Amino acid sequence: MADSRSCTHARTYLMCPPEYFTVEYAINPWMNPDETVDTALAMRQWQRLHDAFTGLGHTVHTIKPEPGLPDMVFAANGATVIDGKVLGSRFMYQQRQPEAAAYLSWFRLHGYQVVREAGAVNEGEGDIVFAGRVVLAGHGFRTGELAQHEVAELFGLPVVSLRLVDPRFYHLDTALVVLDADTAAYYPAAFDDAGQAALASHFAELIEVKDEDAEVLGLNAISDGRHVVVPEQATGLVAQLAAAGFEPVTVDLSELLKAGGGPKCCTLELR
Ligand code: ARG
Repeated sequence: MADSRSCTHARTYLMCPPEYFTVEYAINPWMNPDETVDTALAMRQWQRLHDAFTGLGHTVHTIKPEPGLPDMVFAANGATVIDGKVLGSRFMYQQRQPEAAAYLSWFRLHGYQVVREAGAVNEGEGDIVFAGRVVLAGHGFRTGELAQHEVAELFGLPVVSLRLVDPRFYHLDTALVVLDADTAAYYPAAFDDAGQAALASHFAELIEVKDEDAEVLGLNAISDGRHVVVPEQATGLVAQLAAAGFEPVTVDLSELLKAGGGPKCCTLELR
């Protein structure tokens, strides 16, 4: 596929500036509280991601960060929004649990009519990934398997449940990126055999990503159907995207990577 993809439209995102970002606990294998974090640099990197989105014509809303919630910058985990309906999150680890209420109140204040609190543990778009006609639901490290029922019921869409098996890729959005309704890129080793088969039968085109690109969280990318905002360190994936007709837009979020996050983690799509 060499022609450039055309199915693009302006998106709306919610982001949270990393004002209080640090790594002070370890809830995934990337986090080392002994390593220094440059919060000012994280802010500048985040701002460039924000500006990359607005430069592409997308709208970005921001939520006010709260002191004591260093991971609140990872807005993707704050909720799941499809067709104006909001499913709140319920975090696995106590350190992040207060973020759920902060995000829920943002949606209530901004006029969203259907705002549902989660029953089962779910970490928002980190694990619940909209794929056009279906929703992909990752589980195994954070989001519980039971969350898929709430997702199916609230959004009225079929859910494809996917088990994650490699602790480095603890959220689905670290192991897979939906590029358009028929195309995704993924890291096969992050999934069990059933998950790999489910992905192969759902997507017409599946791009397999190499170890070295997955290991810099290259798959933590955001597609508008044409442009793909992707970590610059994932050079192999950048080339694969271009060869498939997408337009890669590279960003560097090296400070946020110290918490196990990348561009997609910082971005919650408001559909
Ligand atoms: N430190 C955060 C955590 O472990 C990183 C979250 C990354 N978010 C994501 N959507 N993958 O929860």
